[in-house]
Amino acid sequence: MSKSLNEILSTFNGNKSELIPILQDIQSSIGYLPEDAIIEVSKFTQVPESEIYGVATFYTQFRFLPVGKKHIMVCKGTACHVKGAPQIIEGIERHLDIKEGEVTFDLEYSLESVGCLGCCALAPCAMINEEVESNLTLKDVKKIFSRMKNNSNDKES
Ligand code: FES
Repeated sequence: MSKSLNEILSTFNGNKSELIPILQDIQSSIGYLPEDAIIEVSKFTQVPESEIYGVATFYTQFRFLPVGKKHIMVCKGTACHVKGAPQIIEGIERHLDIKEGEVTFDLEYSLESVGCLGCCALAPCAMINEEVESNLTLKDVKKIFSRMKNNSNDKES
């Protein structure tokens, strides 16, 4: 169960040096860093909001938008890049009508690119939540989305 912002902050003293651990705890509990949370962290640590955004954007681990129920991470490592990862990302962007780093309006899907997923021999690769998809082609992208849609429909009926 996710902790509330107050519960998270109550485990810290409010020192500036705690900024990164505070942001990490918020993200691991809420899934991202909402604007309201940044405002509260600023009051708590006396660090200006602009500085908190500066720190958080420096580290790629932090995100400012929620992730979708299905979070798609396409590998942009060298092997995957060479084998067509940019085209795969474009295909997914077109399919979902979002850009990399965004989430669909219904919070169903989110898309981001990541560094090497460790399965370079099967490039290009992506992860959807915990599952790895390998040797991806644009045709596979369509199949994967129709499979996910069917799975969702099965669960709803
Ligand atoms: S470069 Fe994509 S899995 Fe290694």
